[in-house]
Amino acid sequence: MNILGVETSCDETSVAVVQDGRTILSNVVVSSLKEHSKYGGIIPEIASRRQLECIHAVSEQALEKAGLKLSDIDAVAVTTHPGLIGSLLVGISFSRALAHQLGIPLIEVDHIQAHLYANFLRQPDDQSPQPQLPAVGLVVSGGHTTMFQVETLPHFKKLGQTRDDAAGEAFDKVARILQLGYPGGPAIQKVAESGKNSEIQFTCAAIPDTLDFSFSGIKTAVLYHHRDHQNDETYRVDQVAYAFQESVTKVLVDKCMDACASLQACTLLVGGGVSANTRLRERMMAAAQARSIDVHIPPMALCLDNAAMIAGLGYHLNGKVRQE
Ligand code: KG4
Ligand code: ZN
Repeated sequence: MNILGVETSCDETSVAVVQDGRTILSNVVVSSLKEHSKYGGIIPEIASRRQLECIHAVSEQALEKAGLKLSDIDAVAVTTHPGLIGSLLVGISFSRALAHQLGIPLIEVDHIQAHLYANFLRQPDDQSPQPQLPAVGLVVSGGHTTMFQVETLPHFKKLGQTRDDAAGEAFDKVARILQLGYPGGPAIQKVAESGKNSEIQFTCAAIPDTLDFSFSGIKTAVLYHHRDHQNDETYRVDQVAYAFQESVTKVLVDKCMDACASLQACTLLVGGGVSANTRLRERMMAAAQARSIDVHIPPMALCLDNAAMIAGLGYHLNGKVRQE
């Protein structure tokens, strides 16, 4: 079954073709991210305008790369939520029209759950087995930090979430405080490399006995530290970035280990933009290995927003298929 996936929830316009919920035949992603950098965050009007301008060309490229024609597509899967309304509307309208024209089902996909599904995708020459379920899953992105229990596909039970900022949002806001540019995640990761072993320590709120998170406190702690020390002779932004990254990655890893222990889960799935962070990947893998937990984190390109994860999860959502 060839499913054409469409993802337009934020600044990426992406169309992919995935076979049988596993094999990526194509996954084309274009982004308007650079245009937003100078504003320090995504400008919804610019994002949706670019979506509109790109969607046709991106879908044609996705079909061409997959070596398929429209008549080879069996269903269209599209991100319906969450996201920027103007951007979402472009993908939803495009997908509805396409499914209607071809007389094939339209499948509505949750963007956050799809981030975890990225772990089940494989390139055509990759025969490696898919993750075993049940699993604990953590989605860490710019808009969400959510813990799930995944018993079977496509059933995701929410176990906890952030009570304020998402982890990626904290990276973006702290980068702004430290004047490192946007998006903050990759900028902080890069700068933090030379700031290792700093004596500065920040602590993320633990919110004991829950699988909830909070990142607004650490953002304020960095703000005050920067305000009070930026003119000190010994002040080093790289050390602040490092200390911040250590604190965020620690709480993410600790909560995942807690969730796996309390549910006796042997599989851990991680996804979303922040899972591209090399320090998080390193710490998560080390902690999981020490507890014999089989951890899955997608390759970098599949951590960020992409349509392959939408097409992939769409394959498992047959119950929700709507004939247009
Ligand atoms: O999943 P995503 O592409 O979009 C949303 O669904 O939000 O995630 C974007 C977020 C941004 O906040 C960005 O700063 C963060 O992921 N991010 C990172 C890294 N790469 C992207 N955060 C930490 N380290 C990274 N290497
Ligand atoms: Zn995302």
